[in-house]
Amino acid sequence: MSIYRTMLFAPANDLRKAGKALLLDADAVVLDLEDAVALSEKANARIALKEALELPRKGDVFVRINSVQTEYVLNDLLAAVTRGVKGIVVAKTESAEEVRKVDWLIGLIEKERGLPESGMEIIPFLESANAILNAYSIASACRRVSRLFFGGVDYVLDIGTSFSKSGSEIFYARAHLVVASRAAGIEPPIDTVYPDFKDIKGLVEDAKTVRQMGFQGKLAIHPGQIGPLNEVFTPTAEEIAWAEKIVKVFDESEAKGQAVFQVDGKMIEYPIANRARRIITLAGQIAKKSEDK
Ligand code: COA
Ligand code: MG
Repeated sequence: MSIYRTMLFAPANDLRKAGKALLLDADAVVLDLEDAVALSEKANARIALKEALELPRKGDVFVRINSVQTEYVLNDLLAAVTRGVKGIVVAKTESAEEVRKVDWLIGLIEKERGLPESGMEIIPFLESANAILNAYSIASACRRVSRLFFGGVDYVLDIGTSFSKSGSEIFYARAHLVVASRAAGIEPPIDTVYPDFKDIKGLVEDAKTVRQMGFQGKLAIHPGQIGPLNEVFTPTAEEIAWAEKIVKVFDESEAKGQAVFQVDGKMIEYPIANRARRIITLAGQIAKKSEDK
């Protein structure tokens, strides 16, 4: 499974932005056929998507399609299920049933086009109260579901409030997504966009909050957000040094039959050692990612 610290949106029908987005340092780009595209432009956006997918790129590419409840979904999938697309982001997913419909259609298109069977991932975008409550069944709807996206902008509208800097109104939904993802055995979720893209300090604080809550990364809308987000979601040198020390001491102690002891005045036992191992794995995956680029 890939690690995504930053996933940058670009409208599929804006080739200038799409072309730039594909060469920036986001771990992935999401080319959008949904809300970043005017209703009158939906058909043109699918044509532009084809062109955008031919452009040089540095990371993985996903396509966000319109909700399954719209008339656009079939044509969006016909445009998006193609070689070079890692997965389909399904806007405003409300239920497991919707995910299974998309899974079925993708399967048919893959077969028709000779694409690797079940190669395409599905990322449900959860952006309403109903979606949040259905998160576990959505996350476990089919094997293609790799992770969930949280759509805070639409969610706060749905629950009748607005975005605040503290994020207190979205705390429950965020926590619920982390738990549902873990219970379903998929990757940790990716957090909502931070619309005030000039406020980097606010973005970094928000990202630190969700990292601590268990999110893997965050959606981005502007190039200026990528560097700061990548940094927040990358283990720091101190964290890696701590993890290496814990694992070394733990392995030595365990070999002598001792599983609980102290390092620098803090109790170390299996869960802490496992957390340290996860940090080392994550750091290794991120380092490999930058070598590959
Ligand atoms: N991807 C790639 N490049 C982007 C970009 C993006 N998401 N957002 C901005 N840029 C580029 C601009 O094209 C501009 O480059 P240029 O000067 O060479 O033309 C540069 O970054 C600076 O942009 P700026 O002037 O600060 O912003 P803008 O007014 O051009 O765009 C937004 C602001 C919000 C419209 C734009 O960031 C955007 O379209 N974001 C993605 C929106 C989206 O896809 N939303 C759907 C999910 S919520
Ligand atoms: Mg939206």
